[in-house]
Amino acid sequence: MTDSIKSVSVKTFAKMKENQEKISMLTAYDFSTAKYIDESGVDSILVGDSLGMTILGYDTTVKVTIEDMLTFTKAVANGAKRALILADMPFLSYHISKEQTIQNAGKLIQAGANAVKLEGASDFILDEINHLTKSGISVAGHLGFTPQYINTIGGYYVQGKSYENTLKLLENAKKLEENGAFCVILEMVPEESAKYITENISIPTIGIGAGKYCDGQVLVIDDILGKYPGNIPKFVKQYANIKDIIKESAQNYNNDVKQGLFPDKNNTFFLSDEEREKLECNLIKSY
Ligand code: KIV
Repeated sequence: MTDSIKSVSVKTFAKMKENQEKISMLTAYDFSTAKYIDESGVDSILVGDSLGMTILGYDTTVKVTIEDMLTFTKAVANGAKRALILADMPFLSYHISKEQTIQNAGKLIQAGANAVKLEGASDFILDEINHLTKSGISVAGHLGFTPQYINTIGGYYVQGKSYENTLKLLENAKKLEENGAFCVILEMVPEESAKYITENISIPTIGIGAGKYCDGQVLVIDDILGKYPGNIPKFVKQYANIKDIIKESAQNYNNDVKQGLFPDKNNTFFLSDEEREKLECNLIKSY
């Protein structure tokens, strides 16, 4: 199987919505995690700019650069041979000019992504999405809470909490669809609003903190594994506690090294008897 022919494609997403089959998506940022997620049967891997927080330790996603995204997209593409890889276009990488947007999106596709994701639905962003899709680059939209706008939103707030705001979100979702987006991420939106949007657009909605009626779900891998040291949002379901496993393993290793218990003979290479004898004779001679 080549990198470009995946068993999950943007067409599969459309089919899954048509057949009312739920779409699963998880973030990944490195080779081995991507490989395990791919092998688990999850439909899609998002190389999210959440890596700014989970991998690089920033407070927000706004410091993430296109170079960061390229490094981690390449790593994920080496691990995921089946799942559709979606890569985030980071802050300001699609805001300057159409030329720059295409160049940056093209780099992500050449790094192994099958599609890119842009946040928002202003006229400017819609124009960029239109241009990308007409140039043969598949695009996912992202509405509701859009982390790259944290400094204008002012905090981690649920979006679309009123009837009017829900209609506005639906209008934006429709515009994304009209401009060629193949799916839309809905982040931190009340369940009823997300259901209404899902039922009134033709492209799949992928929810994160948007309730059970979306066509699919996405979560951040570090959150479900219990790895991220910061606050875990209410919408996360934690499936493991990797944090404790890492801490305990590191403590045990530390103790073993200090007490001379590691390495033991199972972790060590030895000379053959013949070579050891020669070495021992030489040692004796040299005294
Ligand atoms: O960057 C990311 O991980 C995301 C998800 C929160 C959807 O955009």
